[in-house]
Amino acid sequence: MSVDSRAVQRDAAWQKLRVHATRLATVRSSELIDTEAARWQEFTAQIVVGAAASVGAARLLLDFTRQRVDRETLQALCTLADACDLRGAIAAMYRGDPINQTENRSALHVALRQPRGAQMGGADIEREVFLERTRMLTFAQAVRSGAITGSSGQSFTTVVNIGIGGSDLGPAMAAEALRQFTAGAPRTVFISNVDGCALADTLASADPRRTLFIIASKTFTTQETMANARSARAWLAAMLGEAAVPAHFAAVSVNAKAMNEFGVHPDYRFMMWDWVGGRYSLWSSIGVSLAIAIGAANFEALLSGAHAIDIHFRDAPWSRNLPALMALIGVWNINFLALPTLAVLPYDSRLSRFSAYLQQLEMESNGKGVTRVGAPVVHDTAPVIWGEPGNNAQHSFFQLLHQGTARAAFDFVLPVESSCGWPEHQELATANCLAQAEAFARGQSEATVLKALLASGMNAARARELAPHKVHRGDRPSSILLFDRLDPTTLGALIALYEHKVFAQSVLWDINPFDQWGVELGKKLCEAMLPAMRAPLSDASLPRTLAALIQRIAGSRD
Ligand code: F6P
Repeated sequence: MSVDSRAVQRDAAWQKLRVHATRLATVRSSELIDTEAARWQEFTAQIVVGAAASVGAARLLLDFTRQRVDRETLQALCTLADACDLRGAIAAMYRGDPINQTENRSALHVALRQPRGAQMGGADIEREVFLERTRMLTFAQAVRSGAITGSSGQSFTTVVNIGIGGSDLGPAMAAEALRQFTAGAPRTVFISNVDGCALADTLASADPRRTLFIIASKTFTTQETMANARSARAWLAAMLGEAAVPAHFAAVSVNAKAMNEFGVHPDYRFMMWDWVGGRYSLWSSIGVSLAIAIGAANFEALLSGAHAIDIHFRDAPWSRNLPALMALIGVWNINFLALPTLAVLPYDSRLSRFSAYLQQLEMESNGKGVTRVGAPVVHDTAPVIWGEPGNNAQHSFFQLLHQGTARAAFDFVLPVESSCGWPEHQELATANCLAQAEAFARGQSEATVLKALLASGMNAARARELAPHKVHRGDRPSSILLFDRLDPTTLGALIALYEHKVFAQSVLWDINPFDQWGVELGKKLCEAMLPAMRAPLSDASLPRTLAALIQRIAGSRD
């Protein structure tokens, strides 16, 4: 199909959706939920990861019955996916085409979690991936079992991952999510911020003889990571002597030269590749601290869960395709219902870092203002992602979500089984999650409130006065992502669902999700800021307000 006729189809699909949005604007969510007899069958989609009969099979269900969509909307959204050639875009990514065109790179995180023989990205890439995966997992197991020791011959009890962004958020989030699978492993600590407090707190109680540092940095130039790594090195050398350093530092990077200069022992260096984006790198050796925490077999289960979603995303029809549906519903909410934020609300404390992880994944990927060819976008792009474990959120910001003027869409993330072996508590968490989803969708009318107040014996004047304060307008759309248990396979699948959701949305918006030029300006200005801060009076080129602030800081320090 020619580029022009594709553009015509795409515009027609967007236009059709606008018409649907106008039609649905006056329809209440409760009407949508209750009047379509097959709502449950048509507005849920499920995937089973692993053999259905096996004990360890992971089932994930997307319940989008409470979204403000009907059958026609869903069909129109699937037409949009075809008009944007989502199928072709997936094939290009899986082939390893240089789809990150501003950096002339492919984006082959799917190759990192492939099983042997899949040849994703080609035979050479498959071979390299397996070589490095085996090296990394062998190292992780040896650290875990105590076969690899510190300089004094003692096993490691603390593993400190030093990294930031994608070199921190994925492993940190997953290590917490899978804490139930870490028995017998060294304690894992994640250090990212440059202010030094997290590192200082960690070192205050760490035994240098039993501490392993992992410097995780794709580039090995990131200021925060290198500052923390240098301080950790200085501490270790001061405690145990310079000769002990190589036994206590491992590193993951594409930058072999910088790892060399830092003095990382060749056996403790792990490679990654340019075609792995930082926020898509959990599956590479960047996951080494996680592999130490959960062990090689669990890490491989994580990969297999993600791979199952890769295949599902590639092959399933849009109306049954979980990541595609999540993407299409997101586009519907953002671009047609004017809901620019998405709250991610796990009803499982083990997923306490999940929304932070998704913030980088979604907002660094799709927070873009120009199309692939550099023209200003004509649609809004990535939503603002935010969230907290749901119960805490209920007692914090849910008031605004139920009755405030700012509006959001929600993803509830819900395991059936408790992630810590406390089923009665998970039952309570689940009841809360379902109650909130219903309350957001259906709301509570003034007539209902009034009736209840009068029935409680309140006098009519007081009841009429109070009623408006208790009205919930409803029509707040949500999805529930339900899964049996938070195990490595399921977590791998869950993360891959969001990764592919993000990719699908980038295709629908015609933007590049794999670059991040927006983070560069601040980094560059920071380089100029340090000299100015160290010699506050000498730089006449600084803007006046900035110079005044720097002098104020310097004055307070003296
Ligand atoms: O500042 C953004 C970023 O480049 C992310 O994309 C990346 O995950 C993070 O910094 C860390 O980068 P590195 O792994 O190279 O230290």
